[in-house]
Amino acid sequence: MSLLRVDDIHTYYGRSYILQGASLEVKKKEIVALLGRNGAGKTTMLKTIMGLIKPRAGTIFFKDADITKLAAYKVARKGIGYVPQGRHLFPKMTVLENLKTGMTDQSDERQLEGVFHLFSVLRERLHQLAGTLSGGEQQALAISRALVKRPEILLLDEPTTGLMPIFVSKLMEVIKKLNESGMAILLVEEKIPFALTMADSVYFMVKGKIEYNAGKEEVQGKKEVLIRYLGVEV
Ligand SMILES: Nc1ncnc2c1ncn2[C@@H]1O[C@H](COP(=O)(O)OP(=O)(O)O)[C@@H](O)[C@H]1O
Ligand SMILES: [Mg+2]
Repeated sequence: MSLLRVDDIHTYYGRSYILQGASLEVKKKEIVALLGRNGAGKTTMLKTIMGLIKPRAGTIFFKDADITKLAAYKVARKGIGYVPQGRHLFPKMTVLENLKTGMTDQSDERQLEGVFHLFSVLRERLHQLAGTLSGGEQQALAISRALVKRPEILLLDEPTTGLMPIFVSKLMEVIKKLNESGMAILLVEEKIPFALTMADSVYFMVKGKIEYNAGKEEVQGKKEVLIRYLGVEV
């Protein structure tokens, strides 16, 4: 069953025509990878889904409701979590204060138990300023801030960028764990093997259009070929 469906989206920044009729679909409990070169329009796609930029044409459905024209906070409230590229934390605020910006009821700290379970390091650093955390810890915080609302789907924009390999593996574990708990994932990644190891389906974007799409059987059956093909293309 379709959870998130982006249908023929056209997005502009002023007069720059960025998403030129792009479509994609994330089914329930799926991990979908959105790949493509720098500047292809991946971040614009996630921002358009989140309601942060309004598309000029096309439709976005979440659980069969049309969310295309909803304000960003309403999109989030529907159950779509978003971890932006570059994390966008508040560096001068503590870990706890950053987490609270994601909480619906800020007095109920029990909402945090789930994220401490995934990233125990955050509990230890609750009163440390976010800007003083390591790269891996900052990414853990950015993901946790999106998770406290218990989204049904999580949009991750290049979560592994700048991370040490040990944290990349940790991140892979966390993504798999979330997915096993029933959460769908839309993953934008530059590390193609990392993305393909986890993805049920893959979209490859070129200049604002989906150039290539592969489903589960193809991704799993031809992983090596895909890694080589996309590795050259990206
Ligand atoms: N705020 C903006 N204003 C104008 N152009 C932008 C803006 N953000 C991104 N772009 C342009 O849109 C295109 C797609 O960018 P982006 O979605 O960030 O690509 P990706 O995430 O795939 O690297 C690029 O050409 C980029 O320069
Ligand atoms: Mg980007």
